[in-house]
Amino acid sequence: MRLIELVVNSRPDAGAVGGLRYDAMDWRRLFSRAPNPDAGQAAEDPAERDRKIVLAYHDVTKHGSQRFARGPVDLDWETQPNPFRRWAGAEVLPLAHTPIGAEPRYEQVYVEGELAPHALDRAFASQLFFDSLALSAWKSAGESRWSLRVNPSSGNLHPTEGYLLAPAIAGLSATPFVAHYAPKEHALEVRARFDRALWDSLALGWPAQCVLVGFSSIHWREAWKYGERAYRYCNHDTGHAIASVTLAAAAMGWRATLLDELGSDAVARLLGLGDTRAPEAEEPECVLLLHPQSAERSAVELDDRPIERFAGLTWAGAPNVLSSDHVAWEVIEATADAARKPASVRARAAFESPWPAMPVGDEAISFRRIAHQRRSAVAMDGRSGLARDAFYQTLRRTLPSRAGAPFTTLSWSPRVHLALFVHRVADLEPGLYFLVRDPADETALREAMRPEFTWTKPPGCPADLPLFTLHGGDVRGLAARVSCDQQIAGDGCFSLGMIARFASSIAEDGAWMYPRLFWETGVVGQVLYLEAEALGLRATGIGCFFDDAVHGVLGLRNRAWQSLYHFTIGGAVEDTRIAREPAYATAPAGPL
Ligand SMILES: Cc1cc2nc3c(=O)[nH]c(=O)nc-3n(C[C@H](O)[C@H](O)[C@H](O)COP(=O)(O)O)c2cc1C
Repeated sequence: MRLIELVVNSRPDAGAVGGLRYDAMDWRRLFSRAPNPDAGQAAEDPAERDRKIVLAYHDVTKHGSQRFARGPVDLDWETQPNPFRRWAGAEVLPLAHTPIGAEPRYEQVYVEGELAPHALDRAFASQLFFDSLALSAWKSAGESRWSLRVNPSSGNLHPTEGYLLAPAIAGLSATPFVAHYAPKEHALEVRARFDRALWDSLALGWPAQCVLVGFSSIHWREAWKYGERAYRYCNHDTGHAIASVTLAAAAMGWRATLLDELGSDAVARLLGLGDTRAPEAEEPECVLLLHPQSAERSAVELDDRPIERFAGLTWAGAPNVLSSDHVAWEVIEATADAARKPASVRARAAFESPWPAMPVGDEAISFRRIAHQRRSAVAMDGRSGLARDAFYQTLRRTLPSRAGAPFTTLSWSPRVHLALFVHRVADLEPGLYFLVRDPADETALREAMRPEFTWTKPPGCPADLPLFTLHGGDVRGLAARVSCDQQIAGDGCFSLGMIARFASSIAEDGAWMYPRLFWETGVVGQVLYLEAEALGLRATGIGCFFDDAVHGVLGLRNRAWQSLYHFTIGGAVEDTRIAREPAYATAPAGPL
C-alpha cells in the first residue's frame, strides 16, 4: 500500500470526545469545571475533571480534511487586536541597541562554558530582550505595514508578553523591579518597584547574580484569527519565547532554568497579571531563572512567603485596550483554566541525556545575526537540496544534550519525537524517517507504529543519532496533504511532525502538562528555525495539519502519541512585492 493511500484509508476516531459525539456535545457542560449534577459527578476528582477537559479540547480542536476546528468564518479586520500591549502611565526605561557583530559564534551558544558570563547591567538587559523578543524588521505592501519579531508567532499575531523581574541593575534601575517588555519601543515599562529585602528573601539560595524572565499569553490575539485551535498556538509561541530568551542569555554566558515548581497563581502574582481582564487577560505561563553559567546548578528553593508579598505591591500602569470588540471562544478559557498549574508539583523528570553537547567547529557564523535574520518562508522553491551530513547535524541539534542550551531549560524528560518526511536530502532516499529524542520511548514507539516500518539506520548516520528509516518513497504529496494541503510542506528539503508522548503525560503529570508539551515543541521549533538560517535555508512552523491523518500515516491509533506541531525546512521563495525597513528608525537614547 502506498503511503498516500494510508491517509485516505486511515479511520481515526475524529469526532469523538470522551465518548461523546462532537456534534451532539453540550459544550458548556463538557468544558465546565462545575460538578455536573445530571451525571452524578459531584464527587469527581477536580484533577481528573481537568484532565478530561484538556483531552476534550485537544480532540475538538483537531483539523481534519472533512472538518476544521471551529474558528471565525470571516476575519473581522475592524477588531484585529493590537499586537502591542502597553501599560499606560508606567515609567518607561529605554533599552540600548547592541550592535550585531561576529561574536559570539552560532555554535558556541549551544554549549555551556564556551562564553564568559556578561555582567548584570543595563547592556545585559538590553541585549537579552533585543536578541529574543524585540522587533526584527518592518514590512510593507501597499497600504499595509506590519512588524516582525525575533521570536516567531503563528500568523504573526504575537500572543506572548515578556516580563523582567530583577534586583537593582547598574545603569537601569536603582531598586528591584518588575517590568513589562515593550518590543516596539525596545523599552521596559516598570509595573512595580520593591525593596532590596523582598528581593533578597525571594532570591535566597539563588546564585548571587540572577534575574527572572516571565511570560504570559493573550489568547484573544490568536483566537481572533484562529478560533478554538488558538490555545495550542499560544503555547507553541510560549515555547518559542522560552527558547529565544534561553539562547539570548546563553549568548552572554548565562543559563536559563524553568522555575516549574511555581503554580500559575504564583506566576500571575510575580508578574502582576491580576491587573489584566478578560477578554484581553494575560494568562500566566511561566518564569525562567537566568544566571551566569559559571554559577552552581543547584536545586532552586522557592519560598511562598515572599511571593505572597507581591500581591501587596503598588502596581503602576493600566493595560491598553487591544480590540474594539471580541468574540468569546469559551472553550479556550475553560481549557486554560483546567491546565493551570498547581504549586509545588513537577513533571516527571527522570532523564539522563546520553548526548554530550555538540562540538564547536570554526564556522564564522554570528549567532546574533542568525537570530535577527530568522524569518518564516511563505513558500519553498521545490528545488533546493541539503547535504546529508548537514541534515544529520540539524537533527542532532534538536536532541536534548547534556550541558547545552536550550533544552536544559526545560525541567521534564523529553516528550517530543520527530516524524520526518524527507524530500531532498542528497544521498538519502526520500521517505519517512523517525528521530527518537528519548531512548526510553523507542520500544513503545516501535510497537505503536505500523508493523511494516523497517526501523533501519540510514546510510552514513552517526552512531549517536537515533534516526531510523521507516519507509522509502516520494512523500511530498503526503506531507503537503497532511499539512492542510499546504504545498510548503512538500516543497522543502524535509518536513516533520512533532510526535508527543501524550496520554501518559496528561495522566501521570496532570492537565497542566498539556501546554508544556506544546512548549517543548516550540523549543524544538526555535532550534529548527535557527538551524535553517545557519544552513542558508529557511524554515516555517506549521500549526495547520490534519491531526489524525498524520497519526494514520504512522499507524498511531489512540491518544498515546499525538502530533502537536509541524515544520518544514527548504529554499525559500522571496515575495519581492514586500518592502522591508529596519526594526527601529533610531537607536534609543542612553549609554550601552
Ligand atoms: C506556531 C506556529 C504555527 C504556524 N503555522 C503556519 C502554517 O500552518 N502555515 C504557514 O504558512 N505558516 C505558519 N506559521 C508561520 C507564521 O505565519 C509566521 O511565523 C508569522 O507570519 C511570523 O513571521 P516570522 O516567522 O517571519 O516572524 C506558523 C508559525 C508558528 C510560530
